Amino acid sequence: MSKTIIITGGAGFIGSHVVRLFVNKYPEYKIINLDALTYAGNLENLKDVEDKPNYVFEKADIINKDEVSSAFKKYNPDGIIHLAAESHVDRSIHSPLDFVYTNVIGTVNLLNASKELWEGNFEGKRFYHVSTDEVYGALGAEGLFTEETPYSPNSPYSASKASSDHFVRAYGETYHLPFIISNCSNNYGPNHFPEKLIPLFINNIIEKKPLPVYGDGKYTRDWLFVKDHATAIDLVFHRGKEGETYNIGGFNEWQNIDLVKLLVKKMDEKLGNPEGASEPLITFVKDRPGHDLRYAIDATKINKELGWYPSVTFEEGLAKTIDWFFENKEWLKNVTSGEYQTYYEKQYSN
Ligand code: NAD
Ligand code: TYD
Repeated sequence: MSKTIIITGGAGFIGSHVVRLFVNKYPEYKIINLDALTYAGNLENLKDVEDKPNYVFEKADIINKDEVSSAFKKYNPDGIIHLAAESHVDRSIHSPLDFVYTNVIGTVNLLNASKELWEGNFEGKRFYHVSTDEVYGALGAEGLFTEETPYSPNSPYSASKASSDHFVRAYGETYHLPFIISNCSNNYGPNHFPEKLIPLFINNIIEKKPLPVYGDGKYTRDWLFVKDHATAIDLVFHRGKEGETYNIGGFNEWQNIDLVKLLVKKMDEKLGNPEGASEPLITFVKDRPGHDLRYAIDATKINKELGWYPSVTFEEGLAKTIDWFFENKEWLKNVTSGEYQTYYEKQYSN
């Protein structure tokens, strides 16, 4: 069956993998990538699909309600997959308001535009909000986040995502807007912007720059290969139950310091360096304020209901990621010029 879907944030890291999957898998759909092209948005990520007949790029800022509503009128979508966001915790500590504008107000603008367009005829419509496990706050050494874990966000980023999740649910309750939400753990893979741990450290190892590990490095994250997140999004969008939340995770917890040591080892192998050559780059630096100790997802629900499970191991995913960065040095060079340098100075100068 044909569908018209607006994917917001499709020029970003995860969004570009979702756009590619949908454009290639569903030639009968029309896929509109709606993106403002902030520092994190990059149409280079979608070079291989830009000429496909079922793909359209629409430059629009979700903070601007007129731009959102005119895009909705122009394309008349049946489905929204909403990924556009300010996504980096450290930037949210410097500029929390930017996160309120895009993540909260931007989401409400999309909800209003969907409600206005679909009012009175919600049949076959779906608003899919892509969120994060960080809304649940921090775990201690034990336990996992389930769909029933109470929200307890600690960073301006996670507070803004939690707020957007609440607005989505409220539009479901109040206006019967057909919604679905997923909350995913840390992604990694090709096209990852080099401000996040794994791509930042890959870039710094290539450039022989220090690897800034926050605090004692004993913080734990659950890592998922980005293409496995995209396949989960496909399943949730098509087969998930309306009004429900699905947790998505990698079954793959790593303390930062152990992950960094593995990454250094794999990078030295790739660079043809002697074992341990890049280890001295590891530098413990001032901790992130409000740093969440541990995130870990219980992804039983999506596994049982939709049969989803990650397709690659961490070793395989990391190898694919490293290969991609070596094959795309130009991409890396382009995204680390300009604004990136200013951000880097501000974040890591003391
Ligand atoms: P990203 O920062 O790589 O990309 C964000 C995209 O949104 C960019 O293309 C950017 O141009 C666009 N954008 C930002 N502000 C916009 C605005 N005002 N209007 C229109 N477009 C705008 O983000 P990502 O890592 O790909 O994350 C995508 C989504 O997935 C986010 O909602 C994030 O909260 C969620 N998420 C991310 C992770 C992760 O590990 N990266 C994990 C779980 C959930
Ligand atoms: P990050 O990739 O920013 O994702 P998130 O904060 O959303 O989990 O960080 C992953 C972990 O790595 C987190 O515990 C913070 C830590 N980290 C560092 O130690 N140094 C860094 O330079 C960065 C960016 C992150």
